[in-house]
Amino acid sequence: MEQTFIMIKPDGVQRGLVGEIICRFEKKGFSLKALKFVNVDRPFAEKHYADLSAKPFFNGLVEYIVSGPVVAMVWEGKGVVATGRKLIGATNPLASEPGTIRGDFAIDIGRNVIHGSDAVDSATKEIALWFPDGVVHWQSSLHSWIYE
Ligand code: PPS
Repeated sequence: MEQTFIMIKPDGVQRGLVGEIICRFEKKGFSLKALKFVNVDRPFAEKHYADLSAKPFFNGLVEYIVSGPVVAMVWEGKGVVATGRKLIGATNPLASEPGTIRGDFAIDIGRNVIHGSDAVDSATKEIALWFPDGVVHWQSSLHSWIYE
């Protein structure tokens, strides 16, 4: 089953949105496979965002991610990478639809509350970076009520 990496960024933590965000993924039917509450240092944040190192906003993005604790998670389910991004909403919160996490809770692109892997390949890399010891293997007893 497909997995994705989701991170609640420091603003999402500080604003008390952790429960709300987890609730949205749970209610959709996705399964939580790993979760940790951590402060990341600059080299780690630079590694996570390495593909963006040439962007003008790179430094600000790294400063933002190291500015407070984040919640790192792995969620599993059919189509979870693309559907997780739909639950999250467009990168720029002003363009995010109401009903999405960013559409409901954010305004600035540099304070957009949450990160979600943009493809299955990047999810695999990000999960390996954030959870090098692997994730929890389990199956919800609701599985047969979610999948036919
Ligand atoms: S790009 O330029 O198309 O590669 O960027 P995009 O795919 O839209 O976004 C990649 C991540 O960069 C963050 N981002 C920004 N942060 C701060 N300021 C500005 N202007 C900005 N533009 C993009 C964006 O939130 C994405 O981070 P994650 O954590 O993946 O959501």
